[in-house]
Amino acid sequence: MSDSLRELLRDSGVLTAEWEKPFEAAPRRLFLPEVMWPSVEGENIVVSKADDPEEWRRWADTDVPIVTQWDDGDHTGPERGTLATSSSSMPSLVFDMFADLSVEDGMRVLEVGTGTGWCAALLSARLGEENVVSVEVDAAVAEAARKALAIAGWHPEVVTGDGLLGHPGRAPYDRMLVTAGVRKVPRAWIEQTRPGGVIVLPWETPYSRHNAVVRLVVGDDGTASGRFRNRTQFMMLRSQRGEWIRYGDYIPGDSWPDDTRRSTTGLPAGEVLGEEYTVFAFVAGLLVPECVHTHGRSPQGTPTLWLYGLGDRSWAAVFFDEDAQVFQGGPRDLWGEVEAAHRWWTERGRPGHTEFGLTVTADGHQKAWLGDPSEPVPRAASAVR
Ligand SMILES: C[S@@+](CC[C@H](N)C(=O)[O-])C[C@H]1O[C@@H](n2cnc3c(N)ncnc32)[C@H](O)[C@@H]1O
Repeated sequence: MSDSLRELLRDSGVLTAEWEKPFEAAPRRLFLPEVMWPSVEGENIVVSKADDPEEWRRWADTDVPIVTQWDDGDHTGPERGTLATSSSSMPSLVFDMFADLSVEDGMRVLEVGTGTGWCAALLSARLGEENVVSVEVDAAVAEAARKALAIAGWHPEVVTGDGLLGHPGRAPYDRMLVTAGVRKVPRAWIEQTRPGGVIVLPWETPYSRHNAVVRLVVGDDGTASGRFRNRTQFMMLRSQRGEWIRYGDYIPGDSWPDDTRRSTTGLPAGEVLGEEYTVFAFVAGLLVPECVHTHGRSPQGTPTLWLYGLGDRSWAAVFFDEDAQVFQGGPRDLWGEVEAAHRWWTERGRPGHTEFGLTVTADGHQKAWLGDPSEPVPRAASAVR
């Protein structure tokens, strides 16, 4: 069965010659638990090795992400939990990220987010286990990974700790691979990577749960800069998960507050919710800071967009029916900011993710840019007028 996964990855071009041997030497199934939850079209199903070993093996060898822990381990039993908190990433994505990492023989790599240990095993097979360190925040997950690695015959150093701190004891690293979503790149990662070294991480803004992998190259001046690559959806680093938005904190009661501002919009739903949605959601996240969006349908079936400000109680609700009504409250004009972000994006020919990049400055600020670092992405409010 893994033959067919190998064929699939090879045919799609993600499993390159340099990774074929590691792929053979570190089979994914050796890193998966007896009960696991493969993701099928956005839903997680439960698969138990004891109940159906063939089915379990089939999913282990399928190109899907597989959840291996829920709710930071508080959830037990075969039912799905609330929040997926550890997983084996989708194999094609793993090899895409390895391509971005562009390792060479003898390089030393730090992985943040050991999870099952599969990536650490692949890196060990490619670079030698003495050149691989992996940090995992969850002690039980780290211990399970150590065991699986040992059974598979690999002994990279697995550190239990907060990966935001990196692992200074083995620095400097040539490469750093982060396999959990990041909102703020910590200085420690840049300080522990040698100048010219590469950090590959999935980065996101609060606006959307869709993130994009960014490939940062560390400069001599303490900065790190590079372009976005694939769009992905990774579980977040534990301490950067962000807050849960509670509707009632923004709009108490059953009706709009008295000071609700009402307007209409000319922007069609398809522009912010349609096919281009994930690209625009990514771009909106760059231009509209400190804002979370959700979308769905009203009880009448109207496509609806909700915006919630972080740091204050600004909110907006946009109903994309014939009346195209916008309701807003709080100090920010959140919908105005999103419209301005859309205008800015359209005026520039609707650039995709890979035309944007990110620089982390020596003092820790994150600056997104379009094309090259001299073209910073503005805040939407300043792009409005
Ligand atoms: C998507 S999984 C990693 C997949 C893994 N690379 C593999 O091969 O199976 C993300 C992991 O990051 C871990 N994690 C979350 N926050 C972390 C942090 N601050 N430091 C280290 N690990 C963290 C989670 O516990 C989880 O195991």
